[in-house]
Amino acid sequence: MEHEKTPAGGVTRRAALGGGAAAVVFPGAAALARAEAPPIGFRPLPRALAGGPNPAISPDYRYSVLIPWGDPLAPGGPAFRYPPAAADQARQVGIGHDGMTFFPLDGSRRGLLAVNFEFGRNASVLGKDMPENLDDARAAQHAIGAGIVEIEETSSGHWRTAASGFARRIHVNTPVAFAGPAAGAAVLSTPGGAPPAGMLNNCADGATPWRSWLTCEENFNFYFGAGDGWTPGARQTRYGLKGGPSVYGWERFDRRFDLADAAFANEENRFGWVVEIDPFDPGAAPVKRTALGRFKHEGAAVTVGRDNRVVVYMGDDERFEHIYKFVSDDDWEAMLARGESPLDRGTLYAARFYGGGVGEWRPLTPDVPAIRDAGLTTRAEVLTFARLAADAVWATPMDRPEWAAVGPEGDIFMALTNNRARTAPDAANPIAPNPDGHILRWRDIHRHTGTVFVWEIFRIAARTHGSEESFSDPDGLWADPDGRLFIQTDGDQKDGMNNQMLVADTDTGALRRLFSGVPGSEITGIATTPDRRTMFVNVQHPGNGDPALTNFPVENAVPDGATPPRDATVAITRKDGGVVGS
Ligand code: FEO
Ligand code: CA
Ligand code: CA
Ligand code: CA
Repeated sequence: MEHEKTPAGGVTRRAALGGGAAAVVFPGAAALARAEAPPIGFRPLPRALAGGPNPAISPDYRYSVLIPWGDPLAPGGPAFRYPPAAADQARQVGIGHDGMTFFPLDGSRRGLLAVNFEFGRNASVLGKDMPENLDDARAAQHAIGAGIVEIEETSSGHWRTAASGFARRIHVNTPVAFAGPAAGAAVLSTPGGAPPAGMLNNCADGATPWRSWLTCEENFNFYFGAGDGWTPGARQTRYGLKGGPSVYGWERFDRRFDLADAAFANEENRFGWVVEIDPFDPGAAPVKRTALGRFKHEGAAVTVGRDNRVVVYMGDDERFEHIYKFVSDDDWEAMLARGESPLDRGTLYAARFYGGGVGEWRPLTPDVPAIRDAGLTTRAEVLTFARLAADAVWATPMDRPEWAAVGPEGDIFMALTNNRARTAPDAANPIAPNPDGHILRWRDIHRHTGTVFVWEIFRIAARTHGSEESFSDPDGLWADPDGRLFIQTDGDQKDGMNNQMLVADTDTGALRRLFSGVPGSEITGIATTPDRRTMFVNVQHPGNGDPALTNFPVENAVPDGATPPRDATVAITRKDGGVVGS
């Protein structure tokens, strides 16, 4: 089908609903299927208490800290020293805790926590603005990536790291493999022939029904630089790559990150993917699943759709970028039984939103004339330059798509964190400029596999300001099986607050604040034990590294201006042992 900028076909909400989706009705539908008890019964954390130098939590809850940056990955490993040495850092908890998943080993009391370590500023990791030698660059490289940590709950209800055969760190020098349609393609090969290694800026995450972990590369462009005189091509510019020094300065000591080094041409195309990791096989290389496309991946919300096909909803977090989904070609269990990854064969789509609450998923393949006309003639090119393919089919430019979450009735929620640069509102991005963000909700026909969806705006952040529901800049999302939506924030909160986590009732939209972080931090990453009585969330970049703002995770600290704040996970429990969020 040729794609037009406007809905020439006149897709209407009624037509969308006609395609076997008569059950798509948002408000109240879930309530009919549930007990009458309100799903959110806890006393909220008042906004007046959500702005101090230490975290704060609802009076019905408590929290404890685990795996701060620099702690050994397992007992007996190298202890935290500041600044850390490169060799130590590769065996320690990284910095920039972000998306994470709990893989149980023993019910709800012991398991593997797979955690992204998204980024750490040089001033935080190295104690100086730029690396001065390769050792410094390696220390910064080893500080980020991801980790698998085995954790256990003690009899006193605290969580700690345990000795483990599974504990591992993955960073930008770890060998990785490529799979799917772009594996082995010229655009992913470097003239020098170096094998692919590592992953960068791993932000949010997802988990598959076959118990693997998906970790998503976001702002990979920030790690590449070049001397004066190098200029990017159009495709590089579309992915934010530019000449001049990078903010991390690795390119001065590590040729891989020098965009002008001919031996490493195309190296940047090896980043910006969804990476699959088997947490139960520490010897297995991480695999970049190219069928899911290359962009600034925020997260990967996985669900199972019609015909047992696996579906992954994904955002590209940059102003005016797109929302994507991947649908496997076949039943995921049948594919695995054939020795095939369900994430290697399928269709990538980008979303086009129309007024009237309907939308359309547009396939990104070289069969589409507009995509071929854009110069993308192979599947490898379409996937590696997915942003250009999405542009070619007029996918809707959004207000920074962050996490997606799939609710129990099949609704998909997505955080649009903000977009100060928007000058013209449209149906799905109705605020211009949009400094505080909003949350969308949609439902696909054909149980996630169709090409038409109905959508609505769930909440607009600015409309909460001045009330006890106040929040801005939604980022992390997780929908629990009872109709609650957990919302985490990353940006300037209003009403004197730090970044925070709230819980929404998805029937009514009502919000209650559960937790708040510390100055300069964002709250991100959500994992729970199978019984949902412990929830793990992250306090990322506390104080933006400034010890005068906070000494987190030192308990109840009055900031001393000297003790470096450290990113860490907190384990949240209800004081009465109930389900978190209730
Ligand atoms: Fe890493 Fe878009 O947050
Ligand atoms: Ca984020
Ligand atoms: Ca964000
Ligand atoms: Ca962030």
